[in-house]
Amino acid sequence: MSAPRPLPLLQACRREPTPYTPVWLMRQAGRYMPEYRAMRARHGFLELCKTPEAAAEVTLQPVKRLGVDAAILFADILLVLEPLGVGLEYTRGDGPRIHRPVRSAADVERLKPVEVEQAVPFVFETVRLARQALGDRLPLIGFAGAPFTLASYLIEGGASREFLHTKRFMREARSAWHALMGRLATVTAEYLNGQIAAGAQAVQLFDSWIGTLSPSDYREFVLPHSRSVIAAIAPGVPVIHFGTGTAGLLPLMREAGGDVLGLDWRVELGPTWERLGYDVAVQGNLDPGILLTSVGEIRRAAAEILAGAAGRPGHIFNLGHGVHQETPVDHVRALVDMVHDMSAR
Ligand code: CP3
Repeated sequence: MSAPRPLPLLQACRREPTPYTPVWLMRQAGRYMPEYRAMRARHGFLELCKTPEAAAEVTLQPVKRLGVDAAILFADILLVLEPLGVGLEYTRGDGPRIHRPVRSAADVERLKPVEVEQAVPFVFETVRLARQALGDRLPLIGFAGAPFTLASYLIEGGASREFLHTKRFMREARSAWHALMGRLATVTAEYLNGQIAAGAQAVQLFDSWIGTLSPSDYREFVLPHSRSVIAAIAPGVPVIHFGTGTAGLLPLMREAGGDVLGLDWRVELGPTWERLGYDVAVQGNLDPGILLTSVGEIRRAAAEILAGAAGRPGHIFNLGHGVHQETPVDHVRALVDMVHDMSAR
């Protein structure tokens, strides 16, 4: 039997040299892709997530279309909230809705216990099917929401700009906050380890809205919980720790853990990596808005990011956040090709 092919994405997570910079994109499966819209014409979003054959097919769509170096499980960070009994719905214009938001200590106590294998078996089945289809050609990334970002949806009841309910809850109900975060941390670790057991080879923890907090609030209200999730992940499986608006938080996120730190476009990759230290890998960080401009502009911006990384082992190319719905597929494909070409060593 021949040895399995080395996978550049996993090598980069471990800061090993790679023949080129591996690239994948957050939200690489989604509405900007005609084949995704065709699936969505037949299934509601939640129904799609709960139908493993269909979700596995969507997981593979960007792999076939784009030439990326990894697949990411098609699912959503909010799926684990539904079994808590809070009522989850994806509405057409407004995005996700939690029908019974958590606003008090009593609300926290009412949350149902969650056994992930019983609560979200469809996610693990999607992982198994996608991994089977990928074989050892490309790695499959699993993911989950980080406790803060999950708590913010539970408390706000949906998307938010200012997170005022969340910030009040944190301070006015400190012990209920920590109880909630502790529960979310436990569920999230079990959920990620379930994905790993089903075949995910790396995992990304999305703390998408963490940039709303001050460093001192992060330290007190979030860090211990994110750390406990990351510390509980099966040894040897790389963890990518991602958030947006994190310029002031990255050293603390690093303290919480992760083999790779996800950077958004509001920081310059080169100096930021230098500041964090080269003993952690970095992922990022093209502004997804640039994908709506021209191939020339995309090339210029991608080249700048690659120059910042300077060919050091441990850079995974990605966007600074997810692909926008209005993005031309050709531009995404061009980005993947140019990252491979420009970084070839
Ligand atoms: O990256 C991928 O391709 C994997 C799939 C994935 C989805 N959501 C599919 C999805 C991933 C990794 C996520 C993570 C996610 N979900 C996050 C963290 C990343 C981020 O974007 O910050 C968050 C905050 C959510 C919550 C969520 N789910 C929102 C805010 C929305 C609505 C936004 C929108 O674009 O409508 C969703 C729905 C959702 N999740 C869609 C997709 C493809 C769109 C649903 C549709 O098809 O109508």
